[in-house]
Amino acid sequence: MGDYEKQIETAVEKYRELLKGQLERVERINAQADAVDYSSLEKIVIGVCGGDGIGPTITSAAASVLKGILADEVASGRVEFRNIEGLTIENRAACMKAIPDDVLAELKKCDVILKGPTTTPKQGDGWPNIESANVAMRKELDLFANVRPVRVPDKGIDWTFFRENTEGSYAVGSLGQNVTDDLAVDFCVTTTEGTRRIARLAYEFAKANSKDRVSIVTKANVIKTTDGKFLNICLDIGREYPGITTDEWFIDIMTAKLIDEKRRRDFKVFILPNLYGDIITDEAAEFQGGVGTAGSANIGKKYAMFEAIHGSAPRMVAEGRDKYADPCSMLRAAVMLLNHIGYNDRGARLERALDICMFEEKKLTVTGRDTGATCEQFAGYVLDTLSSL
Ligand code: IPM
Ligand code: MG
Repeated sequence: MGDYEKQIETAVEKYRELLKGQLERVERINAQADAVDYSSLEKIVIGVCGGDGIGPTITSAAASVLKGILADEVASGRVEFRNIEGLTIENRAACMKAIPDDVLAELKKCDVILKGPTTTPKQGDGWPNIESANVAMRKELDLFANVRPVRVPDKGIDWTFFRENTEGSYAVGSLGQNVTDDLAVDFCVTTTEGTRRIARLAYEFAKANSKDRVSIVTKANVIKTTDGKFLNICLDIGREYPGITTDEWFIDIMTAKLIDEKRRRDFKVFILPNLYGDIITDEAAEFQGGVGTAGSANIGKKYAMFEAIHGSAPRMVAEGRDKYADPCSMLRAAVMLLNHIGYNDRGARLERALDICMFEEKKLTVTGRDTGATCEQFAGYVLDTLSSL
């Protein structure tokens, strides 16, 4: 065995800093105030942040539908829409920041945010290796719950995923260590309160929406410490809800069960650590028509952000097809935004209009190419349908 003392010492020193950072985060979470009550706010500021790639196209389509739905509130001053520029890969790369400071300051002045996809640099794509803007925003605004619904009414699928959004393999995802040229180590983090709050939200959602089953999905048979802790805490919270059946699954078999037509209708609400939630929600969205059709809510106690579950599709822009991008993911996100800020009646109407346009009437379809409607035409179709409801 070689003499690695120096490398080990350097790694341990970095590890110490990382642990300090996580313990500080634990203290912040433990000290957090209760969730904001939007009905008590005089004014709700909705930040609109287009992102890059197809982001600006689909985000402005969704924002225009939202502005239509909230026209009275905008006129009375109860709701303000605010455009936030600068969350583009070019600007982020120029500042070498996942979220440039001035953009973050603007985001923090909003109550909720409608955010388009942002390009996440990966090895070899020419962009500097900065952290994903999504992941950074979830951490900066402490958006601990990623709520992702998937519905396919004619197949009996009605699922809501509660993906933990700030911890697990993502907590220090960009701070892994190359201890030597031959050894790389990443970290996975589970905290008590970080798990309790996502489990609580999932069970409260199940209770409020008469869902009598919650499935906890981990790999606690192998990742025994962090997934084991996550599982035990979720089970503890579950015991406080006697009317709800809790079951535990491992992520591998759960990915299989989602394609089992006989079993998958039984699932209703899922709670998962970050990485498993990331993976399985793409699989789940595929049953609904693909990631382009799925919206996502990122909920914290103070802020909330609503987005598509897919990326920025730079290839569509390079091929000049961005105007044919499907706005449905952002429109689904807009439904969740309306529900979150207390306009549930409007949220339900938009959801109904989307179901009509996407699944029932289908007067226009978006194909991502000139064989289908443009993003703007589809948004217009949704607005027309809304006014006829
Ligand atoms: C998502 C995305 C992001 C994630 C990427 C873009 C960093 O896949 O929102 O699911 O991994 O969380
Ligand atoms: Mg994902």
